[in-house]
Amino acid sequence: SRSKDIEVLRGHIRDIPDFPQKGIVFKDITPLLKDPETLILTSRLLLDPFKDEKVDLVAGIESRGFIFGTRLATDLNAGFVPVRKPNKLPAQKISVEYDLEYGTDQLEMHRDAISEGDRVIIHDDLMATGGSAKAAAELIKELGGVVIGYSFILELGFLNGRAKLEREIPVHSLIEI
Ligand code: PRP
Ligand code: ADE
Repeated sequence: SRSKDIEVLRGHIRDIPDFPQKGIVFKDITPLLKDPETLILTSRLLLDPFKDEKVDLVAGIESRGFIFGTRLATDLNAGFVPVRKPNKLPAQKISVEYDLEYGTDQLEMHRDAISEGDRVIIHDDLMATGGSAKAAAELIKELGGVVIGYSFILELGFLNGRAKLEREIPVHSLIEI
């Protein structure tokens, strides 16, 4: 069953206290990636909520959003576009700044990543404050895309990241903490 599958995934996520700084409990997905069963199970469970949707693109947020983002894209017959940290993309781009739990504060996309009206899913491994996901949505909308949903493996519910996102757009998280 789906709830049993979710419990299996939960058992493959490791807590690392005080990384990358004191007071943060880092949710490490490398055990889930290393086990072939949970690796494939994760991609199957991420696909479920979107499998009957018409999707043009999956936008994956650097870098852990790239791992399952491309798989989700191929499973949906969609393309993949990277949402990147500053100064990584080589061609004409747009940028947005935002607040976060730790780390960098800017994301970028190529100007030609999205065509007017493209239906786009935003994928990342984890939503914490929601700052990254909100920033990605702003970039996609600025380029004329339509965000049809958010996809995460993990959501840190106590940080209430959902409140930052537009209420009409569905948020699908496999595991809530
Ligand atoms: C982590 C995570 C999300 C973001 C979530 O990425 O993978 O992208 O933080 O935080 P937020 O909801 O508060 O914005 P990180 O910056 O650690 O980069 P990485 O994926 O390259 O490890
Ligand atoms: N990104 C933001 N907060 C995080 C956390 N607590 N664990 C893993 N990735 C994160």
